[in-house]
Amino acid sequence: MLQIFPDTSSIAEHVSSALVARIHAKPDAVLGLATGGTMEPVYARFVAKAKQAGLDVSGITSFNLDEYIGLAPDHPKSYAAYMQEHLFAHLGFDASRLHLPDGLASDLAAHCQDYAARLQASGGVDLQLLGVGANGHIGFNEPGTPFDCTCHVVELAEQTRIDNSRFFAEGAIVPGSAITMGMAEIMSAREILLVATGKTKAQIVAEWYERDVTEAVPFTMLKQHPRARIIVDEAAASLLPAEARQQRLVANG
Ligand code: F6R
Repeated sequence: MLQIFPDTSSIAEHVSSALVARIHAKPDAVLGLATGGTMEPVYARFVAKAKQAGLDVSGITSFNLDEYIGLAPDHPKSYAAYMQEHLFAHLGFDASRLHLPDGLASDLAAHCQDYAARLQASGGVDLQLLGVGANGHIGFNEPGTPFDCTCHVVELAEQTRIDNSRFFAEGAIVPGSAITMGMAEIMSAREILLVATGKTKAQIVAEWYERDVTEAVPFTMLKQHPRARIIVDEAAASLLPAEARQQRLVANG
């Protein structure tokens, strides 16, 4: 379940190949998509590979994990804008199949219900991409989120707002709340690839490895998923117990 790669570019290569293979095998696949710094090299590599291979992505349906409340889709720091910039604008996606939570929805509870219903009506996610917060959040399910929750509104943890301030201009306010796909929806994906890179993720990767499944660390829920892979680089693996690191490196050849 744990795979250690030398660096971010080898991870981008591996994960983008998995995406291409999945779309080849199932041109109408449903993808669960993440944003954030971790995914940028993955999407860049995927776009290059897909262009090179002439991959047809027009049948793909996607559901993004989350969106900030209060940001319009054309706000440069919205996750809708991130997806356009890093993925959607580069390939021939069918815009009507690309779903993101609406950060400007007037009735947030109804919007969350609708998002969950659309996800279910799609037949569920075939391949879910995930990053992980330094505090163990997945999507924006912050520590303490019940594992059985579906799409909902969340108050962002202070740590998350501090971590994400790097994407905003100096002095700009990071939104305090978001809409996120729930833990139950993430777990119902048929396959999950979680990527963690860099030394800022080393502590949470070690915690994931050592702790039992607990709502205090949402990331640990993936231990219960039959087809989840935790893909880390050397920096993110650096606080794993030596034995775990050794074992996995050998296992990966
Ligand atoms: C983003 C998301 C978050 C990020 C996590 C890591 O859609 O759901 O869980 O994956 O905050 O962010 P980065 O990759 O910026 O460290």
